[in-house]
Amino acid sequence: MRFGGLVAVNNVGFSLAKGAVLSVIGPNGAGKSTLFNVITGVYKPTAGTVTFAGAEITGKPAYDVVERGIARTFQSSRLFGDLSVLDNVIIGMHTRTRTGVLDALFRPAASKREMAACVAKAEALLKAGSGDLYDQRYRPAGALAQADRRRLEIARALASEPKLLLLDEPSVGMDETETDALVADIRRLRVENPELAVILIEHDMRVVEAFPDNVMCIDYGSKIAEGSFATVRSDPRVQEAYLGKAAADA
Ligand SMILES: Nc1ncnc2c1ncn2[C@@H]1O[C@H](COP(=O)(O)OP(=O)(O)OP(=O)(O)O)[C@@H](O)[C@H]1O
Ligand SMILES: [Mg+2]
Repeated sequence: MRFGGLVAVNNVGFSLAKGAVLSVIGPNGAGKSTLFNVITGVYKPTAGTVTFAGAEITGKPAYDVVERGIARTFQSSRLFGDLSVLDNVIIGMHTRTRTGVLDALFRPAASKREMAACVAKAEALLKAGSGDLYDQRYRPAGALAQADRRRLEIARALASEPKLLLLDEPSVGMDETETDALVADIRRLRVENPELAVILIEHDMRVVEAFPDNVMCIDYGSKIAEGSFATVRSDPRVQEAYLGKAAADA
């Protein structure tokens, strides 16, 4: 993915199996979020392809990507701050609901039934995660504390019933206890849905360490190491990328 003269993501090839977790690490500006933007069709890559569940989805519009089963959270919150917590989750379901404007007008009973089912499902998602989002379900999302906003972003992404969940720095703004609860949430999700694949962009090594099998480090747009957390962490190029050359030599 090029932006003018800048190659933001350069030959970052990988594949991910059903049910697997990939942690993506790398310094600020490495190209991690851009990778998500390419996968989800926010950007059409200058070269290369994205294939999901056997179909090429390179540059497909965001709604199409969601419909195929990829959901994401954003590094900076994209919640609807004036809408309630519950409504934010219900919005995440729109690709899985059938009721359109005409149904709402001409089949009010069917559309009412579907809405009730959506509310029940949204409430279940709010109850399932850590924190007390359910108790706050009628509050405007903009009034939530930072950690709850991150949790709500995940609940909204899950509302689309994804096969692949992309989390962009979900632990930002969380303290250690909240971060541990986030790890527990992701673990629970995988137990409940063993086919769910997750790509996790993280700066917090506490989280990466919890999903240590499959880690990839990007620097200046290129993949510089991949493997288990132990392998990647001890790679001199990774240490150099994070700490600078002098520190790595020392
Ligand atoms: N739309 C864009 N136009 C131009 N340059 C962009 C655009 N989006 C990203 N970039 C550049 O691409 C590079 C990678 O950015 P990206 O946001 O992917 O980094 P990141 O690894 O997510 O960093 P961070 O850890 O700070 O979130 C940066 O140099 C950034 O300035
Ligand atoms: Mg980023």
